[in-house]
Amino acid sequence: MELRAYAKVNLFLRVLRKRPDGYHELDTLFERVSLYDRLKFFHAPSGTKLRITGRRLPAGRGNLIVRAAELLKKRYRIKSGVRIELDKKIPVAAGLGGGSSDAAATLLGLNRFWNLGLLRKRLLEYAAELGSDVPFFILETALARGKGRGEKLSTFRSPGRLWHVLAFPKLRVLTAEVYRAMRPQFWDKPFKGKSPSKSGPSFCVNSLERVVLPRYPVLSKIKADFILAGADAALLSGSGPTVFCLAQSKSHAESIARKMKRKHRIPFHVAHTV
Ligand code: C5P
Repeated sequence: MELRAYAKVNLFLRVLRKRPDGYHELDTLFERVSLYDRLKFFHAPSGTKLRITGRRLPAGRGNLIVRAAELLKKRYRIKSGVRIELDKKIPVAAGLGGGSSDAAATLLGLNRFWNLGLLRKRLLEYAAELGSDVPFFILETALARGKGRGEKLSTFRSPGRLWHVLAFPKLRVLTAEVYRAMRPQFWDKPFKGKSPSKSGPSFCVNSLERVVLPRYPVLSKIKADFILAGADAALLSGSGPTVFCLAQSKSHAESIARKMKRKHRIPFHVAHTV
């Protein structure tokens, strides 16, 4: 059995306040984009084995795929094993939800692989235990608004297929560290209104930029260059370091990517809503 685990970007990510449990209350808009990892599931006599190709990433107990598989095995007393092969294409720890998406694909995949018959509602609960971004990928929808830690999901009127260019700077940004540095003056108000406007400062907002951009000036430069290259808007995704822009069409996105590659020696990827 083979599954795709798509990446996400946050069209907006508004941090509303800090909660007593240490997490931050969010109002965010997740969008699934056309960049994905592949997961394959094989029967094995026992245990959970993970093999990774494509990009370097630890395959041990800390890996969210292994944790998702172990969670189901424990809850449902599953004796048989599984071997999972991950072909990693989504940049790791990049603000694209790659690890979360892999975890969600593991829950969805093993539910079928082991004939557990679990309803989406139950999978959403397990997903929330694994991470704040995991539930979005259980929905298997192109767009969803996330409140709470990001796990309380609701629908959002679709703006249709959006085109993007993603920029992958070679930087290490630690999510927990970024949230820890958030201050009340960086907080935002919830998004008002029901439908997206494709551009404009009031829509594409990421509160985390106020921590991340001052630390990594190159990210501000990439944002500015996206606008100079003709993009409608440019924004940090999640806690970064991925910066993405909104374009009007595939050819517009390709034109922006060409211009950006002349200025920045980093990978770029043209993607759209899926
Ligand atoms: O939920 P997840 O493990 O993906 O979150 C990683 C870290 O990001 C958390 O440990 C927390 O420090 C921070 N976080 C937060 N508020 C959120 C989501 C994440 O403070 N809504």
